[in-house]
Amino acid sequence: TLLDILDIDGVPVLVSTKEMWDKIYNFPARPDDLILATYPKSGTTWMQEILDMIQNDGDVEKCKRDSSLERCPLLELKFPHKEKTDLEIALEMSSPRLIKTHLPSHLVPPSIWKENYKIIYVARNAKDCLVSYYHFHRMTSLLYDPQNLEEFYEEFMSGKVAYGSWFDHVKGWWAAKDTHQILYLFYEDIKKDPKREIEKILKFLEKDVSEEVLNKIIYHTSFDVMKQNPMANYTTLPTSLMDHSISPFMRKGMPGDWKNYFTVAQNEEFDKDYQKKMAGSTLTFRTEI
Ligand code: PPS
Repeated sequence: TLLDILDIDGVPVLVSTKEMWDKIYNFPARPDDLILATYPKSGTTWMQEILDMIQNDGDVEKCKRDSSLERCPLLELKFPHKEKTDLEIALEMSSPRLIKTHLPSHLVPPSIWKENYKIIYVARNAKDCLVSYYHFHRMTSLLYDPQNLEEFYEEFMSGKVAYGSWFDHVKGWWAAKDTHQILYLFYEDIKKDPKREIEKILKFLEKDVSEEVLNKIIYHTSFDVMKQNPMANYTTLPTSLMDHSISPFMRKGMPGDWKNYFTVAQNEEFDKDYQKKMAGSTLTFRTEI
């Protein structure tokens, strides 16, 4: 793999040195930053496009000014093909910034928690997240190449994958929203009713857009349109980093794809484990997918 993994408080984080981590942890947030937090493969790129469209009042050409990767730094990463870390890029950006992170809530830089800082969290159901993450591991040289889904299943369930346990992640951010300005959204809800969910975001950001702009945002950020958009589908990255012929980054974009991968036995085992790991939390996911 091209990225190192460091254990930070029991969570595997994709940083190479403790020094790099310290810099990330001391990131100075600005009051007008918008932070997008997700567990990997939960709809980060999708939400980023929605937020960029909102910030640019539905101007599609402006949102094509650069690739997803360049438009919105991933706070805790250094891409091997870039000279600077994304943190350095973020520090040089002018406001208002849109910054994304995959860090669990207990590891984000404390400056982000300051009063009135707005954070949008997107959660995706664990089974689809697992399947999507598995395919992503296959297509990117940034992460290790799993032998098969069974092997990856074990790694995912025991929280050994990059950014740790899905369970701790979604529960941690769910708890954090009681004390901070966090809009907690679900991938499946956005898929089902993008208009309703985007309206929630607009309200949260205290922004108003016309019906026409709203419809533009929905269209431009739909799976099929994003899949064809080189500035949103990660095809501008070198193939040595992401090989879309193995599995495209914009793969399926559908809730329920796990049914094509889980065996009946795996599914039963998963459900049992899920109950245990989610016990005591008020967080629930749509079960009818
Ligand atoms: S990453 O690498 O963590 O930033 O990945 P992330 O963007 O969070 O997740 C990638 C999955 O999101 C799907 N995707 C979408 N689904 C629906 N609509 C839109 N517009 C959209 N854009 C991206 C993408 O296809 C990945 O899911 P899978 O299930 O693998 O298709």
